[in-house]
Amino acid sequence: MDKYELKILTWTGIALVIFMVAVLHAVGKYATDLPECIPYDAAFQEPKISQLDDSTYQVFMLAQMWSFEPDEIYLPVGAEVDLYLTTKDVVHGLHIADKGINMMAVPGGVNKTTMKFRKPGVYEIVCHEYCGSGHQHMRGEIIVNYPKKN
Ligand code: CUA
Repeated sequence: MDKYELKILTWTGIALVIFMVAVLHAVGKYATDLPECIPYDAAFQEPKISQLDDSTYQVFMLAQMWSFEPDEIYLPVGAEVDLYLTTKDVVHGLHIADKGINMMAVPGGVNKTTMKFRKPGVYEIVCHEYCGSGHQHMRGEIIVNYPKKN
């Protein structure tokens, strides 16, 4: 083997290890799960928030041109959330910068991730996949430890 080939392979291996360590570090730091694709569930046609116990929630979120449903989610500090995401129309994205969450909403598919909210605050949700003329208006919020307005 040529010495340059060996150098390239060595540095590629080192870069791969650094990448894997960075991914695992992010999973721990942001208390998030790696997103997973799960089989399409025909029962998931409507947005819904379910509370399973004092601190565990399921959010079934629908993306559509140009909104998320639900677009305001109120949670207590310490809540652990299973977020299920699908779309009614075209491909959308879901990005929660403060939690390191990037997901795709794909027609006919359901993506899922789990996140834990250890700190109070307002966690902004944006669509990060261009989905048409109203893309920039596609937003939502997860409000942790603030009273519900209504
Ligand atoms: Cu939905 Cu951009």
